[in-house]
Amino acid sequence: MKNMMEIAGVKVVALIAKCGSPLYVYDEAQIEAQIEAYQNHFVSPMFETEVIYASKAFTCQALLDKLIQYDLSLDVVSGGELYVASKGKFNPQRIYFHGNNKTKEELRQALTYQVKTIVVDNVYEVDELINMSNELKTKVHVLIRLNPKVEAHTHEYIMTANADSKFGISVDLKDDIYGMITQINNSEYVCFDGFHSHIGSQIFERQGFVEAIHKMCQFINHTNIALDMKVKVLNIGGGFGVTYTSEDKPTPTPLMCKTLIEAIQNNVEKYDLQLEKVCMEPGRSIVAEAGYTLYEVGFIKQTKNKQFAFINGGMADNIRPALYGAKYHCEIANKMNETKTQVYDIAGKCCESGDIIIHEAHLPKVESSDILAVYSTGAYGSSMASNYNRINRLGVVFVKDGNARMVVKPETYEQQIQNDCDEEITL
Ligand code: LLP
Repeated sequence: MKNMMEIAGVKVVALIAKCGSPLYVYDEAQIEAQIEAYQNHFVSPMFETEVIYASKAFTCQALLDKLIQYDLSLDVVSGGELYVASKGKFNPQRIYFHGNNKTKEELRQALTYQVKTIVVDNVYEVDELINMSNELKTKVHVLIRLNPKVEAHTHEYIMTANADSKFGISVDLKDDIYGMITQINNSEYVCFDGFHSHIGSQIFERQGFVEAIHKMCQFINHTNIALDMKVKVLNIGGGFGVTYTSEDKPTPTPLMCKTLIEAIQNNVEKYDLQLEKVCMEPGRSIVAEAGYTLYEVGFIKQTKNKQFAFINGGMADNIRPALYGAKYHCEIANKMNETKTQVYDIAGKCCESGDIIIHEAHLPKVESSDILAVYSTGAYGSSMASNYNRINRLGVVFVKDGNARMVVKPETYEQQIQNDCDEEITL
């Protein structure tokens, strides 16, 4: 191994010398490989399949271009995510609009942009959608998000299908759900396509997904019989786990896809379902491992029991350790071959004791000005970033075949205050 870290043939130290730090870097080929893995393995002779990228994990114009090039669909969950997609010229007919509390403005925005599918999360949303589609005379398709009540093994904050989840309608509430479908079927512009579920995020085991698929297919069967219809679409959500540290053992994408497809096919046969299309919504697993965050080390501090290496970023660019206790792996990018003799807590620069990006990182002796690379930060890093302590959001660089291109410029202090004003409000 070379002593100087490279990502896709690009020398990390040279990149930082040119672009400054901290910086998010994505290995484009790795994103492409993940997209291809889903597209090649999430296929079935029994129904059409669709891979929908969950844009909350990370988006920018360059990534949207890539998704379009690879013919992926897109999951958006807010007016902001839809705006970004529309600016990226994403085909609205390939967009799914989610959210447990979509505002009227967001629904209007979605209909006006002619988003094909709204994933309806509750009973109240149906009324609103029917009224609005009548008013705008706009056709729209819906999936109803069900809660199949499967407890996925992941952090409590990212479970979404426990009995008291805020998301979706419990499969126990059959009458409410049938009522919604009937109401939709009687409407002029809204078309019921099927059901959606998403059981949580960063899930390693296949069992939870298989169980959810079984419950969803069982529910489709009941619906087909009760309402004398053929449910056409099943969307099984995302949530497939990735490797952050050597403790993580995610199911490889081809095997995960095979398991999901087989589970669906078995249920289709068992219940004689007439599913036309099955969708999945990976976010994290498409971008996480392709992403790195590069920091420069500042001071080293020795306390009674600990050794800290301070970095020039932290919880403002990666909230996950503070929010979920998430673990990460790091290396000193300019000392890749040196023996790891030391243990450091990698501390961010925010005014929070909890701003520790990595506890007990084993590293060679760290010195001021070293470049620290944190691995697998490509999902929910940039997208959950904040300006806490007025820290600027980071730039993003894509690297491929030894070439680098800036795809998001670093924010500036001027941009942070550009909306400050002092305008009288006449009431
Ligand atoms: N579909 C729906 C309806 C979702 O709510 C999500 C994620 C996904 C798909 C994509 O899940 P993924 O494949 O990325 O796991 N901020 C947390 C993750 C929150 C996930 C929210 N929903 C984290 O940093 O771990």
